[in-house]
Amino acid sequence: MNEIIDGKKFSQTIRTKVKNYVDVIKERHGVTPGLAVILVGEDPASQVYVRNKGKQTLEVGMNSYEHKLEASTSSDVLLNLIEKLNKDVNVHGVLCQLPLPDHLNEKEVINSIDPKKDVDGFHISNVGLLNTGQKSMIPCTPLGCLLLLKDRLGDLSGKNAVIIGRSNIVGKPMANLLLQENCTVTIAHSRTENIETICAQADIIVAAVGRPEMIKKEWVKPGATVIDVGINRVTKNIDGDEKTTLVGDVCFTDMAGLVAGVTPVPGGVGPMTIACLLANTVTACYRSQDLSDPEFT
Ligand code: GUN
Repeated sequence: MNEIIDGKKFSQTIRTKVKNYVDVIKERHGVTPGLAVILVGEDPASQVYVRNKGKQTLEVGMNSYEHKLEASTSSDVLLNLIEKLNKDVNVHGVLCQLPLPDHLNEKEVINSIDPKKDVDGFHISNVGLLNTGQKSMIPCTPLGCLLLLKDRLGDLSGKNAVIIGRSNIVGKPMANLLLQENCTVTIAHSRTENIETICAQADIIVAAVGRPEMIKKEWVKPGATVIDVGINRVTKNIDGDEKTTLVGDVCFTDMAGLVAGVTPVPGGVGPMTIACLLANTVTACYRSQDLSDPEFT
């Protein structure tokens, strides 16, 4: 179906743009953008994410600094490392992989990162700046969704957007971004009444609830554009065999012949998140040199 929004392919376009901006700042200003990633503990999923981030950082010509700390690392040791990275002129982006072990205070750790180097966009200053429509670091997943939407639809002004999910990492920043694009924005969540009727009025649906295949065809207006942020591991009976597969929050097969565009899982929003992390790192580097922001739209 030609309505598929290919995030994997589009993320390559973003990475190529990042690489061009990296080449320019290296050549003209003698500065190589650097991203420091901190991993505390040995969570298997986090290890995979961190490895991929490091690999893609190097591929676009940036420096990658990985700091792997034991699960028992004290708050003081972690905060001292972040302080050191905040002061390091070769480091333009600092990211502490979440979740952290229980004895560490996630909010305290995130807010100890220099907001200018906070390439996750999770620092309270960046949240406030985005909320009030000021220049900030934008969280990577919502930024990836916005780039996909603008690439597919162009001007989003006046569109009716429904976001399902109210997390700090996706739902809330997504709502702010779409408001800035002059959408009419509704955030629906687990307590929303008549959620199906509300979704069925949307020109744009962004699903970020973490409930496998919750959004069925009855929820979607013909011609809508659907962005599926969900990544859910489920066991399915495929040809008589029980197999584990990944599905989104949207029932993908229901969307065929109905929507103007839909992102698949995997291969939709997922690849955009790391591409946007690289984009944020190069943006932080340009800002550190008082250069105007790179453009990715
Ligand atoms: N863990 C899962 N997703 C993310 C992310 O986007 N940033 C960080 N720092 N940790 C994560």
